[in-house]
Amino acid sequence: MLPKVRITRRGLGAIVLAIGAGLLMTAVLPREVSSDLFAARDPGVRTGPAGAGGMLSSRTALEQQLFGVGLEAFEEVQSVQGTIPQTEAGLGPRFNLDSCAGCHAQPAIGGTSPAVNPQVDVANKELATNVIPFFVTQNGPVREARFKFKPNGTPDGGVHALFTITG
Ligand code: HEC
Repeated sequence: MLPKVRITRRGLGAIVLAIGAGLLMTAVLPREVSSDLFAARDPGVRTGPAGAGGMLSSRTALEQQLFGVGLEAFEEVQSVQGTIPQTEAGLGPRFNLDSCAGCHAQPAIGGTSPAVNPQVDVANKELATNVIPFFVTQNGPVREARFKFKPNGTPDGGVHALFTITG
């Protein structure tokens, strides 16, 4: 049997008051506040400079020098013997690209994938005959392979090279 519910005049007044207050609250809450709090908004493409790729502020003179040397090495393009114009010696025997900055390019040097994946071109650069793996595509992200285990079964996890200088 259902319990008998008796609503007194005072009780009814309290319920009406509570509902009324609730309705009033939703009407009064500023719309911008509620959308800022509860809705995701796409700010769109940012304009202006990248605001990235620079040195942290207030570095010592030595640290600034170190940053410069590091940046130079990062931007350097390598070939096997450095005989190709605008390259330094040192590429190979295995590699993922011929420069760090080629992959770490967007929105500034040190960043992430450029729009066109340079790994596709580098696989066949200077008559090289590397096979491009299925997971590397011209309009896809730059990719590196990591292996879970080394050939001897011990844990690996490190980055491995996709290409070789012999092709
Ligand atoms: C073939 C493209 C490619 C090249 C060339 C490359 N990187 Fe990367 N780098 C990546 C990718 C992809 C990741 C993320 C990999 C992951 O986490 O599995 C990464 C991650 C990193 C990270 C870690 C960043 C973080 O937020 O944890 C550092 C540091 C780094 N790279 C430095 C370098 C340096 C230094 C060089 C040059 C010697 C270099 N990379 C060359 C593609 C590249």
